[in-house]
Amino acid sequence: MKNNILVIGGTGKTGRKVAERLTQKNQNVRIGSRNGHPVFDWEDSATWPAALAGMDKVYITFQPDLAVPGALAAIEGLTQVALKSGVQKLVLLSGKGEREAELCEQVVMQSGIDYTIVRATWFNQNFSESFFLDPILAGQVALPQATAKVPYVDTDDIADVALEALLNDQHNGQIYELTGPRTWTFPEVVQEIATATGREISFTAISLSDYKPVSYTHLTLPTKRIV
Ligand SMILES: NC(=O)c1ccc[n+]([C@@H]2O[C@H](COP(=O)([O-])OP(=O)(O)OC[C@H]3O[C@@H](n4cnc5c(N)ncnc54)[C@H](OP(=O)(O)O)[C@@H]3O)[C@@H](O)[C@H]2O)c1
Repeated sequence: MKNNILVIGGTGKTGRKVAERLTQKNQNVRIGSRNGHPVFDWEDSATWPAALAGMDKVYITFQPDLAVPGALAAIEGLTQVALKSGVQKLVLLSGKGEREAELCEQVVMQSGIDYTIVRATWFNQNFSESFFLDPILAGQVALPQATAKVPYVDTDDIADVALEALLNDQHNGQIYELTGPRTWTFPEVVQEIATATGREISFTAISLSDYKPVSYTHLTLPTKRIV
């Protein structure tokens, strides 16, 4: 069956791969982003109805992060527009171990629309496509929480799960927790990348108060998701 599916963040780390997989499965994909047609902007709710119009299903990745203030209200607003638009299925990408993200999950679960929650741990791609890439390329990584161990998941695996959840009703009402095969500290990850790439990359443990993130996303991620 051919569905109209809005992939919010459809050029991002997971959305890009979800959109590619859906297209390969002969689905009609609309990219939801500030550069999409029509435009979808999380910061402008007036753009949401047009982006959702005619859509059967929606893959939701929030920007910048479900843990930031304002995320809950945005997810509430989006689900209301989705309900009015006749959307039949929501797949929410959420974060493991985050209370704020779980509140957003609840909104989706109580929206009256079929749903699947994909609750992921940290992405491998945070080091190759996201906030840790610049320090990796600079050869100097300085982060707090140096001894905390975290499992990592690959965005290819997230996209596989999201695809299956979007296309198969047997996943309705489910929460899937996606983690990885082992836990890593930041110094272990940096050492692994240095070994695999043959580059010298130093790691310096710093305190949370010394950590100077350059954006809000940088601030929230290292402190929130470490388990
Ligand atoms: N990183 C992690 O370790 C991790 C772990 C678990 C859960 N999560 C969750 O993953 C979600 C992010 O997913 P992701 O990493 O796949 O996305 P991402 O790569 O951060 O998203 C980039 C995409 O979002 C679009 N975008 C950026 N700002 C936008 C805005 N204001 N309105 C609409 N679209 C916007 C971009 O397109 P344009 O620039 O064209 O707008 C692009 O398509 C977050 O909700 C976070 O809570 C992250």
